[in-house]
Amino acid sequence: MSFDAVEVIVAKRDGHRLSDAQIDWVIDAYTRGEVADEQMSALNMAILLNGMDRAEIARWTAAMIASGERMSFSHLSRPTADKHSTGGVGDKITLPLAPLVAVFDVAVPQLSGRGLGHTGGTLDKLESIPGWRAALSNDEMMRQLEDVGAVICQAGSGLAPADRKLYALRDVTGTVEAIPLIASSIMSKKIAEGTGALVLDVKVGSGAFMKDLDRASELARTMVDLGTDAGVRTVALLTDMSTPLGLTAGNALEVRESVEVLAGGGPADVVELTLALAREMLDAAGRPDADPAAALADGRAMDAWNRMIEAQGGDPRAELPWARETDVVVAESDGVLETLDAYAVGIAAWRLGAGRARKEDPVQAGAGVVLHARPGDTVRAGEPILTLHTDTPERFGRAREALEGGVVVAPAGTDVAVRPLVLGRID
Ligand code: URA
Repeated sequence: MSFDAVEVIVAKRDGHRLSDAQIDWVIDAYTRGEVADEQMSALNMAILLNGMDRAEIARWTAAMIASGERMSFSHLSRPTADKHSTGGVGDKITLPLAPLVAVFDVAVPQLSGRGLGHTGGTLDKLESIPGWRAALSNDEMMRQLEDVGAVICQAGSGLAPADRKLYALRDVTGTVEAIPLIASSIMSKKIAEGTGALVLDVKVGSGAFMKDLDRASELARTMVDLGTDAGVRTVALLTDMSTPLGLTAGNALEVRESVEVLAGGGPADVVELTLALAREMLDAAGRPDADPAAALADGRAMDAWNRMIEAQGGDPRAELPWARETDVVVAESDGVLETLDAYAVGIAAWRLGAGRARKEDPVQAGAGVVLHARPGDTVRAGEPILTLHTDTPERFGRAREALEGGVVVAPAGTDVAVRPLVLGRID
């Protein structure tokens, strides 16, 4: 069936629901180039302003899945579980999590992306390991899932091609934040990938898409419903992203911190979130009695990491790169660190060279920010709060500008309320 693009735009503009046939047509016609970018931009804006109901979102997602290939892991000898984070600053959890879950005979296919804007990308982080390669064929990926149990690699271009086009358009038309569009974008790729279980880490706070808990809960509910309706065991944790995760933001810096977690150490919040997500994945994959904390403590997760990195050509024992220059940001007064804003730190790391402005830009492996204090910690005037790392010191000024207002020291004795890391759970 064929429609007129203007008729579909006007229907949503005037607050009507779109029919299944209209949705199927508009996604297919846009992917083929028959619906123009300016028409899809107008429709996206109408969706952002007027929303979609559950059936419309489900159909929109199904149409995006139908635009490309579907993978299947049904021939693997073990169950599959995947995790998706909506993106945050210092969010390196995929790195320790994938090998940790694989220890328990669960296959973890992590199809990941590169960073754009202030949030880092998992592939950029892993590419700081000498020799490691992100691009695998489907056969290589399946072999690695059978042999090692965990794979983190680039998503092939065949999965939900409609999403790639739509996402690029949303990025430049102020329509990224629409809940139906975010939910369908994420879930179309996850459902097409074919995982049996999926755990969503929906970030809430300044460093996340969703700044408040109500909107984050709505996004989580929408995605959990989409996954469940498609036969994927799906659960979401709502987690804090008002301050960075752990003590590092930047590619090689975050790999080092992840290896510390795999060695049984690392910052408490990174360990807490890794274990919370691992327990959800193991439970959803039918391994409720597994003890992931024991696997971090006794070296089994580290063994799985080493095998995962080696299987993709990386040398897990190689020295990771350091940036050539550093600049220390100190506390200006005695007191308690009240705010260390995730968005400010994310922008600073990005400006130092850890992220990219356009998707073809290179990233610096060593660039980023190291935190020496976290909200609630006592600090003294002149003591370091952050160290900025880059190969290109002319970037320090702009990175410091990004931090203005994002680092706040309150007078000594101030009672600073530190948000819990896990703010809710939706299944
Ligand atoms: N990640 C995605 O894949 N899509 C979105 O819309 C937002 C985050």
